[in-house]
Amino acid sequence: MDKSKRAAVIAGNWKMNMTPSQTTAFINELAPKVAGLDGCKVVLCVPFVDIAPAVEAAKGTNIEIGAENIHWEAKGAYTGEISGAMLSECGVKYVIVGHSERRQYFGETDVTVNARVKAGLANGLKVILCVGETLTEREQGVTYETVARQTKIALLGVSAEELKNVIIAYEPVWAIGTGKTATAEQAEEVCAAIRGVLADIYCEKCAEATTIQYGGSMNAKNAEELLSMKNIDGGLIGGASLKSDDFTVIVKAAQ
Ligand code: 13P
Repeated sequence: MDKSKRAAVIAGNWKMNMTPSQTTAFINELAPKVAGLDGCKVVLCVPFVDIAPAVEAAKGTNIEIGAENIHWEAKGAYTGEISGAMLSECGVKYVIVGHSERRQYFGETDVTVNARVKAGLANGLKVILCVGETLTEREQGVTYETVARQTKIALLGVSAEELKNVIIAYEPVWAIGTGKTATAEQAEEVCAAIRGVLADIYCEKCAEATTIQYGGSMNAKNAEELLSMKNIDGGLIGGASLKSDDFTVIVKAAQ
């Protein structure tokens, strides 16, 4: 299967940015700019309180809305968490799981990431599963081991059928928010390795059909080169997703 048969997905990860009113204004501004750009899926993953206004503003556009996290339990005493039913009832279609900021600052482990992936899938959401090595791991030469371990554990108990609703985002931690992008070759190498891991644990065809994004300082200038690589099917964009013109350039680069 060649790359053109895989869904290209450009997703913004707003992190802890934008209030509800800013959300509405941003989507009203972005929607006409990306209208008709149907060569890739356009997704904005937004903070929980921005979901309702985002879904409302995105009605009738080609923009889909995602969340930035999901809890594994259906409900209960989990202060500060959010359930899959809450997200899907609000019109969320995607959810980011295992972002390095969650792993780094909020104690997420491969095991909790696995539980959250399964909750997303069980609730009919498309899961954007983030994996990536730290600078130390890269310098110590364990990049592949790291992303392979993260991928394998995150997907424990996920069937080949369910894998169709999983997108993998390769985000080298050292490239996030630093302005330091992986070179297209570095990103391609690791994305290809992740596809190899999927072939090992599922099958060649399953691996070929899975969308793999690059994330980490992807911007209006470097998107085209990164997206031209054989194994890079999209991007997970932080900073540049907060500027409608820059985000539009990235969406255009994925056409
Ligand atoms: P930046 O694009 O700001 O580096 O963030 C990338 C990211 O973490 C997306 O999830």
